[in-house]
Amino acid sequence: MNLLILLAALLISSQASAWGKEGHELVCAIAEENLTEKAADFVRQTLALGEFLDGNTKNDLASLCTWADKAKYGKYTSTYEAHFLNVPADKNKIDFGRDCAALDCIAVAIQRNLSYLNSPAGSKREKSRKAAALRFLGHFVGDIHQPLHVSNREDWGGNKIRLTWFGEKTNLHKMWDVNLLEKAGLNHPGSLEFLLNQTVDDDQHNVLKWMEESFALSRKYAYLNVENQTLESGDNVGQAYFERAKPIIIQQLTLAGHRLAYLLNALADGSLDTNFLID
Ligand code: ADE
Ligand code: ZN
Ligand code: ZN
Repeated sequence: MNLLILLAALLISSQASAWGKEGHELVCAIAEENLTEKAADFVRQTLALGEFLDGNTKNDLASLCTWADKAKYGKYTSTYEAHFLNVPADKNKIDFGRDCAALDCIAVAIQRNLSYLNSPAGSKREKSRKAAALRFLGHFVGDIHQPLHVSNREDWGGNKIRLTWFGEKTNLHKMWDVNLLEKAGLNHPGSLEFLLNQTVDDDQHNVLKWMEESFALSRKYAYLNVENQTLESGDNVGQAYFERAKPIIIQQLTLAGHRLAYLLNALADGSLDTNFLID
Protein backbone atom coordinates (compact mmCIF):
# COMPACT_ATOMS: atom_id res chain seq x y z
CA MET A 1 0.00 0.00 0.00
CA ASN A 2 2.73 2.42 0.98
CA LEU A 3 4.54 1.55 -2.20
CA LEU A 4 1.44 2.43 -4.20
CA ILE A 5 1.19 5.80 -2.49
CA LEU A 6 4.86 6.42 -3.21
CA LEU A 7 4.43 5.49 -6.86
CA ALA A 8 1.37 7.74 -7.16
CA ALA A 9 3.26 10.61 -5.55
CA LEU A 10 6.16 10.12 -7.95
CA LEU A 11 3.79 10.07 -10.90
CA ILE A 12 2.04 13.25 -9.83
CA SER A 13 5.24 15.07 -9.02
CA SER A 14 6.70 14.22 -12.40
CA GLN A 15 3.64 15.73 -14.07
CA ALA A 16 3.73 19.16 -12.60
CA SER A 17 7.11 20.49 -11.70
CA ALA A 18 8.49 23.87 -12.63
CA TRP A 19 11.67 24.75 -14.49
CA GLY A 20 13.59 21.74 -13.24
CA LYS A 21 16.40 22.02 -10.71
CA GLU A 22 18.85 23.43 -13.24
CA GLY A 23 16.57 26.22 -14.44
CA HIS A 24 15.58 27.38 -10.96
CA GLU A 25 19.12 27.28 -9.64
CA LEU A 26 20.38 29.23 -12.65
CA VAL A 27 17.75 31.96 -12.22
CA CYS A 28 18.59 32.44 -8.55
CA ALA A 29 22.34 32.25 -9.17
CA ILE A 30 22.09 34.98 -11.84
CA ALA A 31 20.13 37.10 -9.36
CA GLU A 32 22.72 36.56 -6.62
CA GLU A 33 25.43 37.85 -8.98
CA ASN A 34 23.45 41.05 -9.60
CA LEU A 35 22.59 42.11 -6.05
CA THR A 36 23.62 45.42 -4.55
CA GLU A 37 25.56 45.17 -1.30
CA LYS A 38 22.44 46.11 0.62
CA ALA A 39 20.39 43.43 -1.11
CA ALA A 40 23.09 40.81 -0.58
CA ASP A 41 22.92 41.67 3.15
CA PHE A 42 19.16 41.43 3.10
CA VAL A 43 19.31 38.03 1.39
CA ARG A 44 21.97 36.79 3.83
CA GLN A 45 19.90 37.87 6.84
CA THR A 46 16.72 36.38 5.41
CA LEU A 47 18.38 33.07 4.53
CA ALA A 48 19.62 32.91 8.14
CA LEU A 49 15.97 32.97 9.27
CA GLY A 50 15.75 29.46 7.79
CA GLU A 51 16.69 28.47 11.35
CA PHE A 52 13.03 29.08 12.25
CA LEU A 53 11.65 27.33 9.16
CA ASP A 54 13.53 24.06 8.73
CA GLY A 55 16.95 24.60 10.22
CA ASN A 56 18.58 25.31 6.85
CA THR A 57 20.65 28.47 7.24
CA LYS A 58 22.93 27.97 4.24
CA ASN A 59 23.84 31.29 2.63
CA ASP A 60 23.06 30.04 -0.86
CA LEU A 61 19.82 31.23 -2.45
CA ALA A 62 20.30 29.12 -5.61
CA SER A 63 20.23 25.86 -3.65
CA LEU A 64 16.90 26.90 -2.07
CA CYS A 65 15.10 27.90 -5.25
CA THR A 66 13.71 24.40 -5.81
CA TRP A 67 12.41 24.16 -2.23
CA ALA A 68 8.95 25.45 -3.30
CA ASP A 69 8.44 22.42 -5.55
CA LYS A 70 8.97 20.05 -2.62
CA ALA A 71 6.91 22.28 -0.33
CA LYS A 72 3.83 22.11 -2.54
CA TYR A 73 3.58 18.35 -1.99
CA GLY A 74 4.33 18.57 1.72
CA LYS A 75 3.61 21.09 4.44
CA TYR A 76 2.56 23.74 1.91
CA THR A 77 0.02 21.90 -0.26
CA SER A 78 -2.04 25.11 -0.37
CA THR A 79 0.70 26.71 -2.51
CA TYR A 80 0.18 24.37 -5.50
CA GLU A 81 -1.75 26.93 -7.58
CA ALA A 82 0.83 29.60 -6.84
CA HIS A 83 3.19 28.14 -9.46
CA PHE A 84 1.18 29.16 -12.53
CA LEU A 85 -1.71 30.99 -14.11
CA ASN A 86 -3.88 29.18 -16.63
CA VAL A 87 -6.04 30.75 -19.33
CA PRO A 88 -8.86 29.05 -21.30
CA ALA A 89 -7.44 27.83 -24.62
CA ASP A 90 -10.02 29.75 -26.65
CA LYS A 91 -9.13 33.11 -25.07
CA ASN A 92 -6.28 35.23 -26.38
CA LYS A 93 -5.86 37.56 -23.45
CA ILE A 94 -5.29 37.05 -19.76
CA ASP A 95 -8.30 38.22 -17.80
CA PHE A 96 -7.09 38.43 -14.24
CA GLY A 97 -10.63 38.43 -12.82
CA ARG A 98 -11.40 35.21 -14.68
CA ASP A 99 -8.02 33.46 -14.59
CA CYS A 100 -7.12 34.30 -11.01
CA ALA A 101 -10.64 34.50 -9.60
CA ALA A 102 -9.67 32.51 -6.51
CA LEU A 103 -6.81 34.98 -5.96
CA ASP A 104 -4.66 31.89 -6.06
CA CYS A 105 -2.20 32.18 -8.92
CA ILE A 106 1.41 33.08 -9.56
CA ALA A 107 1.03 36.88 -9.64
CA VAL A 108 -0.78 36.95 -6.31
CA ALA A 109 1.85 34.63 -4.87
CA ILE A 110 4.64 36.96 -6.00
CA GLN A 111 2.90 39.95 -4.47
CA ARG A 112 2.21 38.07 -1.22
CA ASN A 113 5.80 36.99 -0.79
CA LEU A 114 7.18 40.41 -1.67
CA SER A 115 4.89 41.84 0.94
CA TYR A 116 6.06 39.36 3.60
CA LEU A 117 9.65 40.15 2.69
CA ASN A 118 8.89 43.84 3.11
CA SER A 119 7.52 43.35 6.63
CA PRO A 120 9.58 43.25 9.82
CA ALA A 121 9.79 39.79 11.38
CA GLY A 122 9.59 39.85 15.17
CA SER A 123 8.12 36.55 16.28
CA LYS A 124 9.44 33.09 15.41
CA ARG A 125 6.39 32.59 13.20
CA GLU A 126 7.12 35.77 11.25
CA LYS A 127 10.79 34.84 10.92
CA SER A 128 9.88 31.45 9.53
CA ARG A 129 7.38 33.05 7.13
CA LYS A 130 9.99 35.50 5.90
CA ALA A 131 12.52 32.74 5.25
CA ALA A 132 9.88 30.86 3.26
CA ALA A 133 8.91 34.04 1.39
CA LEU A 134 12.41 34.45 -0.05
CA ARG A 135 12.52 30.84 -1.22
CA PHE A 136 9.04 31.17 -2.73
CA LEU A 137 9.87 34.47 -4.43
CA GLY A 138 13.05 33.10 -6.02
CA HIS A 139 11.09 30.12 -7.29
CA PHE A 140 7.99 31.94 -8.56
CA VAL A 141 9.96 34.62 -10.42
CA GLY A 142 11.58 31.69 -12.20
CA ASP A 143 8.25 30.01 -12.90
CA ILE A 144 6.57 33.13 -14.25
CA HIS A 145 9.26 33.21 -16.97
CA GLN A 146 8.60 29.61 -18.04
CA PRO A 147 6.08 30.12 -20.87
CA LEU A 148 4.04 27.03 -19.94
CA HIS A 149 3.47 28.38 -16.44
CA VAL A 150 1.25 31.03 -18.05
CA SER A 151 -0.62 28.98 -20.60
CA ASN A 152 -3.64 26.79 -21.22
CA ARG A 153 -6.05 25.66 -18.55
CA GLU A 154 -7.51 22.61 -20.29
CA ASP A 155 -4.20 20.83 -20.83
CA TRP A 156 -2.72 21.87 -17.45
CA GLY A 157 -0.04 24.03 -18.99
CA GLY A 158 0.98 21.34 -21.47
CA ASN A 159 1.26 18.58 -18.85
CA LYS A 160 -1.46 16.60 -20.62
CA ILE A 161 0.10 16.87 -24.09
CA ARG A 162 2.17 13.71 -24.47
CA LEU A 163 5.00 13.97 -26.96
CA THR A 164 7.99 12.09 -28.21
CA TRP A 165 11.14 14.14 -27.96
CA PHE A 166 14.16 12.70 -29.81
CA GLY A 167 12.69 9.24 -29.29
CA GLU A 168 11.97 9.80 -25.59
CA LYS A 169 8.46 9.98 -24.12
CA THR A 170 7.74 13.28 -22.41
CA ASN A 171 5.08 15.95 -22.28
CA LEU A 172 5.02 19.52 -23.52
CA HIS A 173 5.32 21.03 -20.06
CA LYS A 174 8.24 18.85 -19.05
CA MET A 175 9.94 19.61 -22.35
CA TRP A 176 10.12 23.28 -21.36
CA ASP A 177 10.92 22.62 -17.70
CA VAL A 178 13.67 20.11 -18.31
CA ASN A 179 14.22 18.49 -21.75
CA LEU A 180 15.05 21.64 -23.71
CA LEU A 181 17.53 22.79 -21.06
CA GLU A 182 19.22 19.40 -21.01
CA LYS A 183 19.53 19.34 -24.78
CA ALA A 184 20.91 22.89 -24.79
CA GLY A 185 23.45 21.86 -22.13
CA LEU A 186 22.10 24.40 -19.66
CA ASN A 187 22.88 23.48 -16.09
CA HIS A 188 23.98 24.96 -12.80
CA PRO A 189 26.69 25.95 -12.17
CA GLY A 190 28.08 25.00 -15.59
CA SER A 191 26.11 27.59 -17.59
CA LEU A 192 26.18 30.45 -15.11
CA GLU A 193 29.04 32.33 -16.78
CA PHE A 194 27.41 31.93 -20.18
CA LEU A 195 24.11 33.34 -18.94
CA LEU A 196 25.79 36.18 -17.03
CA ASN A 197 27.38 37.19 -20.34
CA GLN A 198 24.06 37.47 -22.14
CA THR A 199 23.08 41.05 -22.80
CA VAL A 200 19.80 42.04 -21.21
CA ASP A 201 17.78 44.69 -22.86
CA ASP A 202 15.05 45.11 -20.32
CA ASP A 203 13.21 48.05 -18.85
CA GLN A 204 10.24 46.00 -17.75
CA HIS A 205 9.71 46.12 -14.00
CA ASN A 206 6.08 45.06 -14.00
CA VAL A 207 5.20 41.55 -12.81
CA LEU A 208 1.95 41.50 -14.78
CA LYS A 209 3.87 42.34 -17.96
CA TRP A 210 6.28 39.46 -17.28
CA MET A 211 3.25 37.21 -17.03
CA GLU A 212 1.86 38.52 -20.32
CA GLU A 213 5.21 37.98 -22.05
CA SER A 214 5.25 34.34 -20.98
CA PHE A 215 1.66 33.88 -22.10
CA ALA A 216 2.49 35.30 -25.54
CA LEU A 217 5.55 33.02 -25.81
CA SER A 218 3.54 29.94 -24.86
CA ARG A 219 0.89 30.65 -27.48
CA LYS A 220 3.31 31.68 -30.21
CA TYR A 221 6.06 29.10 -29.76
CA ALA A 222 5.49 26.43 -27.10
CA TYR A 223 2.14 25.13 -28.35
CA LEU A 224 2.99 25.30 -32.05
CA ASN A 225 5.27 23.13 -34.12
CA VAL A 226 7.60 24.80 -36.63
CA GLU A 227 4.85 24.63 -39.27
CA ASN A 228 2.74 26.63 -36.79
CA GLN A 229 0.28 23.82 -36.19
CA THR A 230 -0.93 23.14 -32.68
CA LEU A 231 0.94 20.28 -31.03
CA GLU A 232 -1.18 17.34 -30.02
CA SER A 233 -0.61 14.22 -27.96
CA GLY A 234 1.24 11.65 -30.02
CA ASP A 235 3.29 14.22 -31.97
CA ASN A 236 7.02 13.96 -32.44
CA VAL A 237 9.21 16.96 -31.64
CA GLY A 238 12.81 17.31 -32.72
CA GLN A 239 15.67 19.48 -33.93
CA ALA A 240 13.74 22.29 -35.62
CA TYR A 241 11.53 22.87 -32.59
CA PHE A 242 14.57 22.75 -30.34
CA GLU A 243 16.42 25.35 -32.39
CA ARG A 244 13.49 27.76 -32.27
CA ALA A 245 13.00 27.24 -28.52
CA LYS A 246 16.62 27.42 -27.37
CA PRO A 247 17.09 31.21 -27.64
CA ILE A 248 13.75 31.72 -25.88
CA ILE A 249 14.87 29.56 -22.97
CA ILE A 250 18.18 31.41 -22.72
CA GLN A 251 16.38 34.76 -22.82
CA GLN A 252 13.76 33.78 -20.24
CA LEU A 253 16.28 32.35 -17.75
CA THR A 254 18.43 35.46 -18.12
CA LEU A 255 15.52 37.87 -17.74
CA ALA A 256 14.19 35.96 -14.75
CA GLY A 257 17.54 36.22 -12.98
CA HIS A 258 17.91 39.95 -13.63
CA ARG A 259 14.32 40.67 -12.68
CA LEU A 260 14.63 38.73 -9.43
CA ALA A 261 17.71 40.82 -8.66
CA TYR A 262 15.75 43.97 -9.50
CA LEU A 263 13.00 43.03 -7.01
CA LEU A 264 15.48 42.18 -4.25
CA ASN A 265 17.56 45.31 -4.85
CA ALA A 266 14.48 47.51 -4.76
CA LEU A 267 13.13 45.72 -1.67
CA ALA A 268 16.42 46.21 0.14
CA ASP A 269 16.60 49.93 -0.54
CA GLY A 270 12.94 50.46 0.31
CA SER A 271 11.94 51.66 -3.16
CA LEU A 272 9.70 48.78 -4.22
CA ASP A 273 5.95 49.12 -4.44
CA THR A 274 5.09 45.65 -3.16
CA ASN A 275 1.41 46.10 -3.97
CA PHE A 276 0.97 45.98 -7.72
CA LEU A 277 -2.41 44.23 -7.78
CA ILE A 278 -4.71 46.25 -5.55
CA ASP A 279 -5.18 50.02 -5.78
N1 ADE B 1 -0.79 22.28 -13.24
C1 ADE B 1 -1.87 22.76 -13.85
N2 ADE B 1 -1.54 23.78 -14.69
C2 ADE B 1 -0.21 23.95 -14.58
C3 ADE B 1 0.73 24.84 -15.18
N3 ADE B 1 0.35 25.79 -16.05
N4 ADE B 1 2.00 24.72 -14.81
C4 ADE B 1 2.38 23.78 -13.92
N5 ADE B 1 1.57 22.91 -13.35
C5 ADE B 1 0.28 22.98 -13.66
ZN1 ZN C 1 7.12 25.90 -9.57
ZN1 ZN D 1 6.82 23.56 -14.66
